[in-house]
Parts: sequence; structure tokens; C-alpha cells
Amino acid sequence: MRRKIVAGNWKMNGSKDLVQQLVGQVREQVASLDVRAEVVIIPPALYVDSVVALCGSELVTGVQNVSQWQSGAYTGEVSSDMAKDLGCQYALVGHSERRQLFGESDDVVARKIEQVLASGLTAVLCVGETLEEREAGSAERVVANQVRQGLASVAGEQWSNIVVAYEPVWAIGTGKTATAEDAQAMHADIRRVLAEMGAPSETISVLYGGSVKADNAAALFAEPDIDGGLIGGASLKAEDFVSICRAFPVGA
Ligand code: PGA
Repeated sequence: MRRKIVAGNWKMNGSKDLVQQLVGQVREQVASLDVRAEVVIIPPALYVDSVVALCGSELVTGVQNVSQWQSGAYTGEVSSDMAKDLGCQYALVGHSERRQLFGESDDVVARKIEQVLASGLTAVLCVGETLEEREAGSAERVVANQVRQGLASVAGEQWSNIVVAYEPVWAIGTGKTATAEDAQAMHADIRRVLAEMGAPSETISVLYGGSVKADNAAALFAEPDIDGGLIGGASLKAEDFVSICRAFPVGA
């Protein structure tokens, strides 16, 4: 059975106070309610240490980005070894904001994946098409290329530390979500690409991201190839985030 995961990507939001309040509330609710997913908090790197300290056994911590290099004279960068050292278990790689705003190419993404795996963290490779690409009918090809190139060097046991997040760029922070059917179709496609690459595709979790909210999570999570969500805006409110964490169907 595949791991069910709900990960809250705080992006560049938060403060010491928010860390205390939000992580405390999410942890308390996850501990007392029926949650059938692994719940991951992904704060800005500066707050990782404090989040790890507050997670207890109910939550785990991730980092939003890591350097493509292991260590050295790279001012301002944070390495995956450092994230591991602080107690992170997950690292996002290739989020569309990194690709679009910071010019991350598939090649850079692939090198970051290598760093993350070398550190012993689980990499969450983010992929997704733009609106123009979808309208041009090339969404599947774009996403398949991102998967193939980002994960080009992954082999053998390393696949157990890979998660893929499908996040159509046009759905991120816009309030527009892919329909559960469209998302399912892309997830099935991603799984087919993974199988072609020699990956144990049936065991790899594929998450959906892009305006997931408490009221659309259940429909998405009910699809057979959607194993959870990567949540932006709605991860900044404990109640909304925990409702999403609880949206898996019975028996999931
Ligand atoms: P959103 O962001 O939920 O605010 O659309 C998702 C993401 O970018 O991971």
C-alpha cells in the first residue's frame, strides 16, 4: 500500500509566533482526531529547527528547497545535509515557483534530487504544466519530461525515497483546482512514466497540489492514483489544514 501524505508548504510565510501556534494546534488535532495520512510541515528554512522541536511523533518536517551542491562557498544556500542534520525528513524539489521565479532548470532539479537522496531525505519532486501548455494540449508531455529528467539518476532502493507532486501551475494560489478526474488522469500518466523508467511505480506516492481546500480534498483523495496533497495557502490555518488531513476515504 502506498503512503498517504498531506504536506503543508508554508512558502515565505510565518514568524516565530505562527510556528508556535500553528504547529501546536495542528499537532494537537492530529493527535486527537482520526488522521490516516503522514502529516508534513514545510516551513521556511529558518524555522525548520523550531518546527522539528514542536512536531513530536505526530508530525514530520520538510524543507522547501535545498542547494544543488553539497557544501562550500555558496552564500545564501542551504544544503540537504543541513536539513537532515536538523531533523527534516522531506525536501521539496522543483516547486513551480522555484522553476518560474528562480530559473531552476530540469538539470538543476535533477542535481538537487541527487543531493536530497544522498542525504537520506525523501525528495518530493514537483511537476506541473502552465495554462498555455495545457491549452496547447501538451500537459502530459511536459509533465512526463519533468518526471523523466528530474528523476533521471534515481535507481534501485532510492525509489523508496521519492514522492512526486503534480501541481498544475495554473491551479497554484489561484483558487482553481483541476477536476478530480483530470488530476487522476495525470496521476495515472505519471505512474506510467515511472514504470517506464523502471521504478516500482505502484509503491510511489503521487500527491496533488494547487488550491486544495477542505471542500475539494475529499473528491481528490478518493481517486485511486491520488495519494495525498501538497497544500499551500490552506496549510496556514490549523483548522483548514487538519480538515484536509482528514479527507481520506475510509479504508484508505
Ligand atoms: P496552493 O499552493 O495550495 O496555495 O495553491 C500549493 C503549492 O504551491 O504547493
